[in-house]
Amino acid sequence: MSTRPRFGQNVLRLETTDSTMREAAEWAERNAPEGTLVVAEEQTAGRGRLGRGWVSERGVGIYASLILRPAVAPVQSTLLTLVMGLGVARGLGEAAGMQCDLRWPNDVLLNDKKCCGILLEMSAENDRVRYAIAGFGINVNQAAMPEELESIATSLRIETGCEYVREVVLDAVLRHAERYYEMFLARGAAPIISAFSRASSYARGRRVVVENGAVRSMGTTVGLDSSGLLLLEHEDGRVEPILAGSVRPRRARSETAG
Ligand code: BTN
Repeated sequence: MSTRPRFGQNVLRLETTDSTMREAAEWAERNAPEGTLVVAEEQTAGRGRLGRGWVSERGVGIYASLILRPAVAPVQSTLLTLVMGLGVARGLGEAAGMQCDLRWPNDVLLNDKKCCGILLEMSAENDRVRYAIAGFGINVNQAAMPEELESIATSLRIETGCEYVREVVLDAVLRHAERYYEMFLARGAAPIISAFSRASSYARGRRVVVENGAVRSMGTTVGLDSSGLLLLEHEDGRVEPILAGSVRPRRARSETAG
C-alpha cells in the first residue's frame, strides 16, 4: 500500500482570508491529513518571512499553504523549505518553460527577480515536528508589480508575456514538491542538498550580504552544510553557517557608487 501523502488531495478553497497560514494551522490542529492544501483567491494580511507581508492581489497569484506531518526533528525544518523551493522551481519550469533560480532559503527567482516566496511555520513538541505548514505565494498573472517591489519582484506573466491557468501551475508545483518531499523522507537530507546546490546559483561562489534583523554579514557562499544551512565565507577565511536571514547579491563597488 502506498504511503504517499498526495499533496492537494484535500483542497480547501477560500475566496478571501487574512492568511492561508492561519487557516492551514487551524486545520492541522483539527487533524487534517498530511497533504491538505488551503488555497485562497486573495489574502488581506498575507505573511512573509522575517515579519514582512506578502502582497496578495485578488485572482492573479497563487496563495497556498500545505499541511505536512514529517517524522523529523524541528532542526530539519530548513530542509523542508529547500524541498518546497525545488518543487516550485521545477513546477514553474514545467508550466512556464522557464528556468528558475533558487536563493537560499526560500526565494524562487526568474531573471534574478523573485516570483515566489516560501514560508515554513511549524508546531513541535519533544523534539519532533507535530506538523509543518509550507506556505507559498507565486506571482503568476500580475501585469505589473507594485512600484516599490518592481526592482526585486516579478511574475510569470511579466517575464514571459503569457497568462497562465493558475490551476495548471499549481498542479505542476504540487507534483514536483511531492516528489522532492518523498525523496527527503526516503533518503534524507543529502539528495535535497545536492539538488538544491545544483539548482541554485547562490549556493556557491556568490558574493552576498546576509541580513538578519540588525545583524549584517558579508562574504562569499561556499555551499550548504548537512542541515541545509548556507555556508558563508568571510574575508578573513572564517566560514559561518547562516541560521536565518535574507540573502542579497552584493554589488561590485563601482555599481553601488553614486
Ligand atoms: C517570503 O518570501 O517572505 C514568504 C512569502 C510567503 C507567502 C505565502 S502566500 C500563501 C501563504 N500565506 C501567507 O500568509 N503567506 C504564505
